[in-house]
Amino acid sequence: MAELAADFFERHPELRLGALGAADNQRALDLAPFGHETVYFPAEKRPDLVALYREANQLAFPGALALPGWVLSDLYLLPGAIGLLTCEARYLDVPIRKRLGLRPDDTAIAAAYLGAPTVHPGTFIGVSLLSLIPRVLAGAWVKALTLRMLGAKRLRGVAQWQNPSVRVHTRMGPIRVVSSVPGTHEFKAKSFVYESTLGDESEWGLAMQRKVEMRIDARIPGADHDELGRILERAEAGEEIHIVPPGLDASGRVLLRLGA
Ligand SMILES: CC(C)(COP(=O)(O)OP(=O)(O)OC[C@H]1O[C@@H](n2cnc3c(N)ncnc32)[C@H](O)[C@@H]1OP(=O)(O)O)[C@@H](O)C(=O)NCCC(=O)NCCS
Repeated sequence: MAELAADFFERHPELRLGALGAADNQRALDLAPFGHETVYFPAEKRPDLVALYREANQLAFPGALALPGWVLSDLYLLPGAIGLLTCEARYLDVPIRKRLGLRPDDTAIAAAYLGAPTVHPGTFIGVSLLSLIPRVLAGAWVKALTLRMLGAKRLRGVAQWQNPSVRVHTRMGPIRVVSSVPGTHEFKAKSFVYESTLGDESEWGLAMQRKVEMRIDARIPGADHDELGRILERAEAGEEIHIVPPGLDASGRVLLRLGA
């Protein structure tokens, strides 16, 4: 992974790795994930960056999923830190840069990810994966680097079956389908809870390069919520079900391995 990360930043010298959280959280993080230097931004001293992050988040998650300011403070910045890839705004597509009201040489959030801590040591919940610079795997890299900063061993998260993020998530390896989403999530009907195990770095590296070969037992359209609902029931009943990399095929079908 260190070699792959070095290669990513060599190919994208415009990108800088950062972390934005309460000042006190800096000492708990690995600020050289996969050997790459990270700048820590204490949120108390960088309201400008917090505002930039919130605007980028609002662009990526409009409408029902808009991030309230209090959630950003209480549940993102205070318990942990948001992993960031930043760049000059000139590297964003012009319509996006203009929507954000940025000049070309302003700092911009290129991609971001939060790993929210849980009651299980080493387990995090992935939240708010976003990238404003498509086509360079910024989502996969900001996710991998943030998880490494946190020392995550196990990850759970909520994803929508039809979202290209399913492809990003499988860059961390095959993802296990856990259950439907507890609670009143706005996108509950089209979402699921997944789990990634992050223990083995060489397997992670293979998955990042799309070099994982796995049996595919079923291909279910991401829009077929009835069939996917039955998959969730089977997973909840204890069956081992994985989404196989790359996660979705070109027609948007979810690639599944049923059983061990
Ligand atoms: C999801 C998101 C982070 C991906 O951004 P990114 O990492 O820059 O995406 P990339 O362009 O590198 O593409 C990532 C993968 O998705 C695929 N992809 C991207 N857009 C796609 C689309 N519209 N349809 C199908 N596949 C698509 C790419 O082919 C790539 O696949 P690969 O990993 O097998 O090569 C970004 O689209 C985003 O911010 N979306 C809005 C917020 C969101 O929905 N977040 C996910 C919450 S779970």
